[in-house]
Amino acid sequence: METTYVMVKPDGVQRGLVGEIIGRFEQKGLKLVGLKAVVPSEETARTHYAVHAERPFFPGLIKFVTSGPVVCMAWAGKDAISVARNLIGPTNGREAAPGTIRGDYGMDIGYNMIHGSDAPETAEFELNLWFPEGIMQWDQTISRWFYE
Ligand code: RTP
Ligand code: MG
Repeated sequence: METTYVMVKPDGVQRGLVGEIIGRFEQKGLKLVGLKAVVPSEETARTHYAVHAERPFFPGLIKFVTSGPVVCMAWAGKDAISVARNLIGPTNGREAAPGTIRGDYGMDIGYNMIHGSDAPETAEFELNLWFPEGIMQWDQTISRWFYE
C-alpha cells in the first residue's frame, strides 16, 4: 500500500472542479486519508516546488500556487502514486489524453489544475510538508471489493 499527495491547484478551485476531481479518485477505489483546503504560504509553495527553483517558470508558478485556495489530499491504495498520476495525465492539458483529468479539463501547462506526487520519496516529502499533523488511519470496509 502506498499513500500519495494530490492537490487541486488554485485554477481547479476557481473553476469549481474540486468535486469532480475528488469523485474520480473515489470512484477509482483510492482511499481518502487526508483532506483540507488552505491558501499556501510562499514558503510552503517554494518548498513544495524546490526542485524547479532554477527554472524560468518558477516565479510564476509560486505566484500562481499562492494566489488562492488549494485542496490538499492524501490518497492511499496499491500503487497509489502511479494510479494517481495516470488519473491526472501528462503536464500539458493539450497533450493529455481524454479520460485523464488534465486531458478532459485543461488547455495549458501552467494552469493544469492538479498536482500528484511522482515517486515514493516525493510523496513522503510532500505529505510531511502539507500534512504535518499527520493523515488518517481508518478501515474502508468497501476496499475488499476493489482488490481480489
Ligand atoms: P505537478 O508536479 O504539479 O504534479 O506536475 P508535473 O509533475 O506534471 O509537472 P512538473 O514538471 O513537476 O512541473 C511542475 C508544475 O510546474 C508548472 N510548469 N510550468 N510553464 C512551464 O513551462 C511549466 N512547466 C511546468 C506546471 O504547473 C507543472 O504542473
Ligand atoms: Mg511534478
